[in-house]
Amino acid sequence: MNRKYRKTIIAGNWKMNMLASDVKKFSDELKPQITTAKYAAIVVCVPHVMIPAAKKAFRDSRVAIGAQNLSEHENGAYTGEVSASQLADLGVDYVIIGHSERRQYNGDTDIIVNKKVHAALEAGIHPILCVGESETQRELGITLELIALQVKTALANVPQSKMRRIVIAYEPIWAIGTGKTATAEEAGKVCMEIRSIIRGLYGAKTARSVTIQYGGSMNEKNSRELLAQPDIDGGLIGGASLAPIKFSDIIKSSNQG
Ligand code: PGA
Repeated sequence: MNRKYRKTIIAGNWKMNMLASDVKKFSDELKPQITTAKYAAIVVCVPHVMIPAAKKAFRDSRVAIGAQNLSEHENGAYTGEVSASQLADLGVDYVIIGHSERRQYNGDTDIIVNKKVHAALEAGIHPILCVGESETQRELGITLELIALQVKTALANVPQSKMRRIVIAYEPIWAIGTGKTATAEEAGKVCMEIRSIIRGLYGAKTARSVTIQYGGSMNEKNSRELLAQPDIDGGLIGGASLAPIKFSDIIKSSNQG
């Protein structure tokens, strides 16, 4: 982390877990735990149908609500899709875009990811742009090339003035939900490379201000070490974000430096 230049953001990704009726209990347990964690911005990304319940449960707290996907289209005949303006209308502040599970199961290509980034920015929602390599790609030694391609395509035609709204999450696919984490040094190095890609595109000042998270089996035991890396400015947390105590321990571990 480097709080002098950029925000630390700890975001939970509930994926397709929990029920709307679970949200109040979760928030009642989480809220008293986070009063001492002053430095990190906190986000909980819930399934679309739970957004109103989550907004209500967290209304008197500093926890922002995020979504896990949005349509690249503005409106129209797209049965089952949810638009950026519909999310903004419900008070959603962040949206995960290009998560590897959506790239794998729902056909989100880099070009579609780019369209979704623009849709979110247009509606004033912060994209949490996910990038990351598979195990095979890592073994082939093409991690950095692949990530450069993902980042550059996702940010195509995004003006410098909008870059302050973008969060990037480095999530190596082989570390998601597997219990295998990149070592803090490995993860920190890729996040540093991502920052240097941003520097190449937008210059040093912008690169310095972008929040870059790590995601992939981050938990209350490894978060302190990961967050101590200078280029890791937060986490995107799946499994461990479903338990209020684990999630709050991760949030508290950002109280360093
Ligand atoms: P995990 O998921 O923490 O369960 O590995 C992270 C993510 O997919 O965002």
